[in-house]
This record gives sequence, structure tokens and C-alpha cells, in this order.
Amino acid sequence: MYSTAVLGCAWGDEAKAKIVDVLAKDADYIVRFQGGNNAGHTIKLKDKKYVFHLVPSGILYPEKTCLIGSGVVIDPFQLLSEMDELRSQGISFGNRFFIDPRAQIVLPLHRELDGKAETNSIQTKIGTTKRGIGPCYSDAIARYGIRFGDLFDNEYLKKRLENIIRFHNYPTSQIDTILNDLNPIINKLRPFLKQIPYLLNTIIDKNILFEGAQGTLLDITFGTYPFVTSSHTISGGIAIGAGFGKNVDRVVGVFKSYYTRVGEGPFPTELHDEVGNKIRIQGNEFGSTTGRPRRCGWFDAVAAKYAAMLNGIDEIAFTLLDVFSGFDTIKICAGYKIGDTVTTEFPHSSKVLEQVIPEYIELPGWDADITRITEYDMLPKNALEYIAKVEKLIGIRVTIVSVGPEREQTIFRKPEIAENK
Ligand code: GDP
Ligand code: IMO
Ligand code: MG
Repeated sequence: MYSTAVLGCAWGDEAKAKIVDVLAKDADYIVRFQGGNNAGHTIKLKDKKYVFHLVPSGILYPEKTCLIGSGVVIDPFQLLSEMDELRSQGISFGNRFFIDPRAQIVLPLHRELDGKAETNSIQTKIGTTKRGIGPCYSDAIARYGIRFGDLFDNEYLKKRLENIIRFHNYPTSQIDTILNDLNPIINKLRPFLKQIPYLLNTIIDKNILFEGAQGTLLDITFGTYPFVTSSHTISGGIAIGAGFGKNVDRVVGVFKSYYTRVGEGPFPTELHDEVGNKIRIQGNEFGSTTGRPRRCGWFDAVAAKYAAMLNGIDEIAFTLLDVFSGFDTIKICAGYKIGDTVTTEFPHSSKVLEQVIPEYIELPGWDADITRITEYDMLPKNALEYIAKVEKLIGIRVTIVSVGPEREQTIFRKPEIAENK
């Protein structure tokens, strides 16, 4: 058994799905372990576009098994409509898609609560996806949650619904409404029930690929709290979110060539000018889930090093490098100025992060279109220098470079020894 994790190392949308898609070729199982349908994972394949929210991105390979672990929160209505959409695109789920009974269920009331929290004047506005993610995880921790396995025991489900409805002071008539809504879909979901930990921990001659959602800077503990999502997005989340009792063999950290963020919260290298606009347009930086324009800024090596450390990443997948073609100069933030001192330590406080002044290194850009390059050494000299600088600042090697959304637009770099020969 060999296990790999593909993890977002910024504020999400680092092109994790594209990297999962190229690495899934060698995997047998692709596993989501956290988050819910707040995720929007895009794969472009022969000009066809697929956007996954809950279904693991490996589903495009007909022979692979896709799993949803205990750490994921599932909106069952959204899951079924996503599956229907994928079926209409020719994708089948029979005997190769399974969900852990411990995964929490996102109820309509969670979506409602999420929406309310975002619009009232008391709570800090986070700019959530309004998919009910935060309220669902809160209920899970408070032990009021409904779990996927509960759906298949009618009596118990009713009891659990009474509990959660009373807790939120909703009218008890809601219990029957929810049950009536859930009843027609329960049989559709039944075939996918499976204890994922027993499956994952008994695999012998197969490869497992863990697909992260969101990114390190959105981690509930290590992210830019409170402007974060409500799950553990870092590699440590795999153990609790999939019930995987072993160490992951290979951790691939996905970094975009620049930084983006959707929603509120500090973003030291954010660009509010024409350069930021140019990145947004060339990178098509509009949310896959909500369609919101993404905030864009320079690569932040302070944040990147922090993310690499937290995930214990072994190698970097560097994505959307093609977006920088036609830039005169490219900047990298190499330190944060706080008062009179410069630090390379990522502040634990969002309030402090709001106030840091990035210290930039400036590098020359390149003009050439790089979207058809397949050999690392064929990249423009300045692009290679940009990558080398990023590697030096993070202290980890870039092994995959993505120069476009399609599978073929991926450069696999030779191992270090071969390259130096
Ligand atoms: P994820 O949430 O991390 O999977 O990323 P998203 O799918 O939300 O956003 C990444 C976007 O970039 C998608 O629209 C991809 O099709 C696109 N994409 C992926 N890799 C590349 C690349 O190397 N270059 C360009 N230009 N676009 C890419
Ligand atoms: P993928 O997997 C980018 C952001 C939201 C908001 C914060 C909390 O596609 O990278 P939530 O709905 O999770 O409670 O919102 O997290 N967010 C994402 N940003 N990509 C994502 O997923 C995100 N999922 C949540 O915009 O700032
Ligand atoms: Mg996304």
C-alpha cells in the first residue's frame, strides 16, 4: 500500500483537483476527508469541464474507487444532484463510491443558520459559501449532529432530529418536514454506506490518494482565524477525517504561482490595482462554487513556508504558472515588516496579519506562451528562476508544474539526481 495526499497550501483553489486528476492515474482509491460542498474542484478534460463539490475528483477514471470519509459534511440533496449531473455526463457510481457512516449530514437548517450568521450585524462576517458548513461542524462537536449512518434507522433518526431541532429552538413540526424530505432519498443513498476505516486500513497492494479541500490558511486551527472554514484542512486532518491509521507516504503541497482568496480576512500580498485585475482575468479567478471574483495577490513565501511546515510536505505542485506570461516583473513576499522588525514567521493573529507590510523580492517576468511546454528545461529562463526562488524560500522542491487546466498541460520534473547529470 502506498498513500499520497494532495493538499491546498494557501486559501483554497490552488488547482488541487487538476493535480488530483493527474496523480489519480496511478491510484486505486481517491478519498475526501474534510470539508463539504463548499469545495469547488474543477477538472478540464478534452474541453469538457467538470466541477466537483462532494464527489472525489478521481471519479472521472471509470475503474477507480472514490470514498468520502468521516470528516466530510454531506448535504445529501446536493450530493444526489451532483451525482445526477455527473451521470448525465456518462459517469457511473456502481460499486465504486462509498461513504463512511460517521460523516455528518448538512441539514437545510444548517444552510439557513449559515446565511443568517453572515447577514446579521452581530457576528463577524466571514464571507462563507453559505452551504451550512460551519453550523454543521458546530453541531457535530456539540454532539447534536445527524450522521450518514443514522439515515438508515428511521426510529433513531427521528430521535436525533428531535434533539437537534429542540436545540436550535425550531418548531417541532419541522421534524416531520425533514423526515418527509429525506424519506424519498434514503434508499438512493443506502448502497454507498461502508465503513471506510476498515476498507482503507486493510488495503495491501493498492495506492490511496487523499484529496484535500480548501487550504492550509483556511484550517480551523492554523488558518487565519476566524476567517477560516470549519474543518482541519492540513495533513493531520487525514487521520481523523478518513480514519487512516498510518502515515501518509507522500505529501504533495499545491501552491498557485500567485495567491488568491475568496471571502473576508487578511491577505498581506493582495493587489488592489491593475496588476491584480490582470491576474484575475488571465487566471480566470472567479469562484467555482459561488462565482465570486477571487481576490488576487503575489506569492507569499512567509505563508507558504508556514503551510509547508504544518503539512510536512515532501514536494510542491506549482500551478497556473502560465498566468504570468506577459508580466514585466513578478514579486514574491519574502518577509513581513511589523513595526521596525522584519519576520518570516506567520502571525497567529489575523489582527496582526492585517497590519504586516510585505517585503518583496522582484524578479523579471517572461513573454512566451508556456501552455504547450512539456519539458521542465524548456520553460523560459525567467520562469525557471522564479520557481528556483520559490523553492529556495520554502526549502522544498517543485516536482510538478502546471501550465494549463488540461491533463497534458502538466510538467513532471525529473528527480534531482537525474537532473544534475
Ligand atoms: P481547487 O479548488 O484547488 O481544485 O481549484 P479550482 O478548481 O477551484 O480552481 C482552479 C482553476 O484553475 C480551475 O478553473 C482549473 O480549471 C484551472 N487550472 C488548473 N490548473 C491550471 C493551470 O495550470 N493554468 C491555468 N491557467 N488554469 C488552471
Ligand atoms: P476549494 O476546495 C476557496 C472559504 C469561503 C470563506 C471561508 C469559510 O475549492 O479550495 P465556509 O463556507 O467553508 O464556511 O466558508 O472559506 N472557502 C473557500 N475558499 N476555496 C474553497 O474550497 C473554499 N471553501 C471555503 O470563501 O472565506
Ligand atoms: Mg476550488
